[in-house]
Amino acid sequence: MPLGDSPFPLIVLPDREAVADQAARLLLSERRFRPERPLGLATGRTMVPVYRALVGLVDQLPEAERQRLRERWLSFNLDDYVVEPAARDTAGFRPEMELALVRPLGLDPDQVRLPRGDAADPVAESQRYGAELQAAGGIGLQLLGLGLNGHVGFNEPPCGPREGCRCVPLSDSTRRANATAFGGSWQAVPRRAITLGLREILAAESILLVVTGAAKAPVLARLLQEPPSDDLPASWLRGHPRVTLLVDQEALG
Ligand code: GLP
Repeated sequence: MPLGDSPFPLIVLPDREAVADQAARLLLSERRFRPERPLGLATGRTMVPVYRALVGLVDQLPEAERQRLRERWLSFNLDDYVVEPAARDTAGFRPEMELALVRPLGLDPDQVRLPRGDAADPVAESQRYGAELQAAGGIGLQLLGLGLNGHVGFNEPPCGPREGCRCVPLSDSTRRANATAFGGSWQAVPRRAITLGLREILAAESILLVVTGAAKAPVLARLLQEPPSDDLPASWLRGHPRVTLLVDQEALG
């Protein structure tokens, strides 16, 4: 497909480090200059170098700027697994965010919000989290990765654009894709998650979709070519006026 035919403004960079650096610059500039609405954050392997690059950029800021950024930080993660309370500190995305951002940036954990996957009632928790985000004004810039089956957040196919924050079952293919975070055993990956829906994602002011690595080439090709459908949840991003797609050469295939 000629790149000019991409349904989204497309930035292609040589490798995942270059992509991470660019994504980090966009996140930092959003947080510094447009702090009115919270950032929307994602987890997963794609985001590891992004947050590393972000921490590196913040380290280079003058102390007063860093302090300002710390004071004004507010972000909402897309999703988390439903886990037993005993696993709260080891499983799921909270420990990942602590290591990637909370500690290196010196933030209060409450400034980096995630749904509570260990809540006694995950369905009620998903409603609470959606309402909390709404009360905070909705997302400013939403950072997104792309699942191998076309999911964003944990909006597994089939998924329509009006689905809101909710508790969802995870497909076996997603559990297999995420097994490394659970000691390599896909059966150890939780069966359910809480995720922001496409409704909250599409309500963001702008969206940055980051796709890297050869494994994502088939799903990226689908995203660039297929019309919007519930079978490819990320395809509903076509309905958003301010999406940037940031990819590396490998993902482009
Ligand atoms: C995961 C997460 C998404 C993530 C995507 C890609 O299952 N729920 O938020 O963006 O799938 O993950 P990765 O970057 O590890 O390929």
